[in-house]
Amino acid sequence: MLKEKIEEALNKQIKIEAESSQIYLAMASWAETEGLGGTSQFLYKHSDEERMHMLKLVQYVNERGGKALIPQLSQPEKVYNSLPELFQTLLNHEIMVSGEINNLVDICLQEKDYTTHNFMQWYVAEQIEEEALARTIMDKLNMIGSDKGGLYLFDRDIEGISVNVEQGK
Ligand code: FEO
Repeated sequence: MLKEKIEEALNKQIKIEAESSQIYLAMASWAETEGLGGTSQFLYKHSDEERMHMLKLVQYVNERGGKALIPQLSQPEKVYNSLPELFQTLLNHEIMVSGEINNLVDICLQEKDYTTHNFMQWYVAEQIEEEALARTIMDKLNMIGSDKGGLYLFDRDIEGISVNVEQGK
């Protein structure tokens, strides 16, 4: 049985993952309407990944005798001025998520819930990958600057980049 404090923290994380999925879906849709086909595909995949992160938590809470709360979500930003702005927002968001995951891990230790602590290690590893990827993308965009040819190649190549090596295990 999950302790109330742990259940609450996990439900908070469910909302964060659901919101991440929603934000990246809005980003994907914006990129699609801007003719950035590769970027939009990358972001659609990223959105799916976040939904999977949410699902994993929903199922864990329920399996452990808690009740997962499916949250109401706020409307994400609809318009971005540029790719660097979009990916900086994404990077900042992932940094925030990492902080929240770390807090959750900390609560697990305080509450001596070693099972949830163990479960959360997957998320800790995932955040390292996601942050690193977002930083690499920002480095590339900073290098490209406003070079149109560079941006064309960026959009073409990003479609092939996988958000995560490991799919939902
Ligand atoms: Fe599921 Fe990108 O945090």
